[in-house]
Amino acid sequence: MGNHVLIEKSGGVLTLTLNRPDKKNALTRSMYRSLGEAIDQAEHDPEVRCILIQAAGESFTAGNDLADFAAVSSGARSADPADVAGNPLLAALARAKTPIVAAVQGRAVGVGLTLLLHCDLVFVADDTVLTTPFVNLALVPEAASSLLLPARIGHVRAFAMFVLGEAVDASTAVAWGIANAAVPAAELGARARTAAEAIASRPAAAVVRTKALMRDEPSLVAQMEQEAVHFLAQLATPEAREAFAAFAEKRAPDFGKVGPKS
Ligand code: COA
Repeated sequence: MGNHVLIEKSGGVLTLTLNRPDKKNALTRSMYRSLGEAIDQAEHDPEVRCILIQAAGESFTAGNDLADFAAVSSGARSADPADVAGNPLLAALARAKTPIVAAVQGRAVGVGLTLLLHCDLVFVADDTVLTTPFVNLALVPEAASSLLLPARIGHVRAFAMFVLGEAVDASTAVAWGIANAAVPAAELGARARTAAEAIASRPAAAVVRTKALMRDEPSLVAQMEQEAVHFLAQLATPEAREAFAAFAEKRAPDFGKVGPKS
């Protein structure tokens, strides 16, 4: 296994690069741990005044690794904190006082979008496509996105994304307030880096206090805990197993055959 999260610190900016491009940067348990630890450590590092999250390859991330979910769903492996409840990345994002900038290109699926709701500046490449197909996988939203996404874009838009899996393109993401700006893919890295350095150049205490005043951390944590209860229950359903099997077998799922209505 290669190094799937690259960590680099310079000019007051800690850069975290998702680096599993052959799997569209799908996030494994160990990647969640590396990302969570890096963000937590940055909180205590006076040299880090901004965090930049970016990704190698053509896509930001295809979301949670579906093989990991399938293993838990089938009972082959027991649930782990990285399976939503206490997920180290999500917990670190909820706690983070350091500002976070994201640079997003290509596909951002599931947690690839929900993590953006915890970022303070978001730049997307023109080719970006954002989706949260939780219900298509028989799952429910996580990362406090059931609270944050409707608050950001409105209930009906968020419902269409969560339940119908509707995709949002780059210009729509900007119009709806998910991203600050859409830029040509070739300019994405520089644009996000410049923004991160601009944040790092501001008076640190004023930046940190401003971010804290804009967020309600206890509410975010409470929502994540509630979501995790339902997420883990859904993960164990026949519909979820069917969804993960369908992905692995490169076919469409058939939910007509499995599962009760409630
Ligand atoms: N977990 C594990 N592996 C994944 C993955 C995921 N979430 N997403 C993609 N991959 C793997 C594929 O299995 C494939 O591996 P292979 O080359 O060994 O067969 C590789 O990454 C490339 O993916 P592929 O599907 O061929 O790329 P694509 O460009 O045709 O489609 C996506 C890209 C993102 C649209 C598609 O991969 C997808 O829908 N992934 C699942 C997204 C998802 O449901 N995430 C969970 C949200 S909660």
